Amino acid sequence: MSSIITDATLRRLEKIAQAAATKSYSPYSKFPVGAAVLAASGKIYGGCNVENASYGLTHCAERTAICTAVTAGERHLRAVVIYTPTPTPTLPCGACRQFINEFAPHATIISTCASKLRKKTSLTELLPDAFGPAHLTTPARHHR
Ligand code: THU
Repeated sequence: MSSIITDATLRRLEKIAQAAATKSYSPYSKFPVGAAVLAASGKIYGGCNVENASYGLTHCAERTAICTAVTAGERHLRAVVIYTPTPTPTLPCGACRQFINEFAPHATIISTCASKLRKKTSLTELLPDAFGPAHLTTPARHHR
């Protein structure tokens, strides 16, 4: 169900993800990550990972980018591009996969890195049978 994204748009997404990684606040892991999401409106939003001295509060780049898009009024995302300055591509962590499912269940997901290696995938592949908004429309009844 993922839609066609032109090569020019892909290049823009990759550039924005790479630029976002340069803004990464990752003094603890020293693992910068950048992300860029393409919204249904055609606009692109970037984000980087933002760590915290209380390690568990870290925001991943994907979630930063998605929150930036949502803050701009977007609800539907067509693509998520990730960049890490590593020899091989980095895929979204489990929490980000769940977060992507909320706004981009059919998005094309592309991980890019410092080499020419790319990993193109989908949420169906990364998080099959995901729990999502539809599951909350018929809440279970509690009989006591
Ligand atoms: N990180 C991301 O930003 N996205 C991912 O999908 C994987 C992990 C960040 C979190 C943390 O700041 C650093 O990478 C090391 O885990």
